[in-house]
Amino acid sequence: MKPYLEFLEEILIPEDILQKRIAELGAQISVDYYGQNLLLVCILRGGVMFLTDLMRQITIPHAIEFMAVSSYGIGRRDSSGNIRITLDLNTDIGERDVLLVEDIVDSGHTLTSVIELLSTRNPHSIHVCALLDKIDRREVIVPIKYRGFIIPNKYVFGYGLDIDDYYRNLPFIGSADLDKYNQEDILIVEE
Ligand code: IMP
Ligand code: MG
Repeated sequence: MKPYLEFLEEILIPEDILQKRIAELGAQISVDYYGQNLLLVCILRGGVMFLTDLMRQITIPHAIEFMAVSSYGIGRRDSSGNIRITLDLNTDIGERDVLLVEDIVDSGHTLTSVIELLSTRNPHSIHVCALLDKIDRREVIVPIKYRGFIIPNKYVFGYGLDIDDYYRNLPFIGSADLDKYNQEDILIVEE
């Protein structure tokens, strides 16, 4: 795997700006869900970093849960309408106030499928909290109640978001030059 500096185009959202916005979202959620039975449902794996920072900014009692859906395969950078649940919840969400915690909304297919499925289980409410919104790429309408940032149509990585499953650990959101990422390393052999 390449060091990210070889294909980083620019840092779109630095760590301090991310954290400041997440604190605002957590404060707003704490007000809006006061007295309710809040359950944060993190969509693995991209939403993990966002969840763990967000929940530390939420001051009301709440529980967390995880689910996973099949998104892109290795080498694919767009999702289709065909989403598969690969890890389901272990909690009965009937009567719960479900808040889906997602890293990014792109075409909107993933969240649409998840909301459709979970709605059949009679939650008291179900809403979306997405850190990033790549709004130009939307193919289906997804109501986003809490949104961190609108970003341009670029492939981004870091802060939970991956390229072929790597680079999730970076504390900022960067955009990738995919040509540079895909470029084979050129070996210069001295004669
Ligand atoms: P959607 O179904 O097209 O909305 O895609 C949503 C999922 O695709 C997100 O949960 C991400 O895991 C992934 N995704 C979309 N855009 C990016 C990106 O720019 N970088 C990394 N992952 C992305
Ligand atoms: Mg995701």
